[in-house]
Amino acid sequence: MPETSDTCLLQRDENEFRRINRQHRLWTRTLDYLIHPAIDATLPKDSKIADVATGTGIWALATARALTESVTLVGFDNCKNQFPHPDSIPKNVSFEAQNLLKPFPIHHQGAFDLVSIRLVASALKKEEWELAARNLFSLLKPGGYIQWMEADISESCTPLQNTPQACSHSLASLAKYALSFLHSKGTDPSGCRRLLEIFRCMGLEDCTQDVFSSDRDPSLRAEFSDVHARALLGILEQAGLQMWSGWNLEKVREWERRVVAELETGRVPGIIEK
Ligand SMILES: C[S@@+](CC[C@H](N)C(=O)[O-])C[C@H]1O[C@@H](n2cnc3c(N)ncnc32)[C@H](O)[C@@H]1O
Repeated sequence: MPETSDTCLLQRDENEFRRINRQHRLWTRTLDYLIHPAIDATLPKDSKIADVATGTGIWALATARALTESVTLVGFDNCKNQFPHPDSIPKNVSFEAQNLLKPFPIHHQGAFDLVSIRLVASALKKEEWELAARNLFSLLKPGGYIQWMEADISESCTPLQNTPQACSHSLASLAKYALSFLHSKGTDPSGCRRLLEIFRCMGLEDCTQDVFSSDRDPSLRAEFSDVHARALLGILEQAGLQMWSGWNLEKVREWERRVVAELETGRVPGIIEK
């Protein structure tokens, strides 16, 4: 039985591992950076970088490869079972189990030049966004930066068609069901829209927000739709396991077939996902 937790609704199996890694490649190609250029310009050569909710550690490992060995990276996640195999981890990277909603160990507080976090919107309840932001802040050295990369999967995420008569009904319905399930658990993906305000209220200086379209590179549109659909199916798998509102795993598989068929028509809808 794959490990699950109340705080992350996606399953920790081989499929989810592959999806996270595909998602990383899409995000990196779409944003065109691992570290925002404005932050990158401030980092000392011997920077200490945290990757919170690291998942498979793919951002931390890619960032380590892109920087010199004098940089140290620590990946944190509340589930250790997706961490890379110890033999494949470079010396300057390490991984630790840590719930981002709990205080970080004292020796990590005030220790990082950059704290990066990506894609936790489906794991945070309304009141948890601020708590998470405070815990990330506690890790920063004076003058350090937080980089929070999030997809707005709330109501504003609408599949758009890119050819006449393209059909995106299944994908749109899937998104609606996944969101209803998240809401029923108290999870609030729209919290990402409050981040700027949360950080400003905490007294952080120099807070800015960049908003990208997920089809900034149209050649990635089909894969973005597929990865997005699989994330929604992952959320609904949890609904199925919990027998939420008439969902079961058979129903999830049926929706998977419908959505895959829709995407495979070749008239793939673009997902507007920020
Ligand atoms: C969608 S994955 C993203 C992984 C990685 N950040 C990336 O972009 O490749 C979300 C990750 O958040 C982690 N997560 C969720 N809630 C968490 C919490 N309260 N504390 C620490 N990690 C958490 C999950 O275990 C999962 O690995």
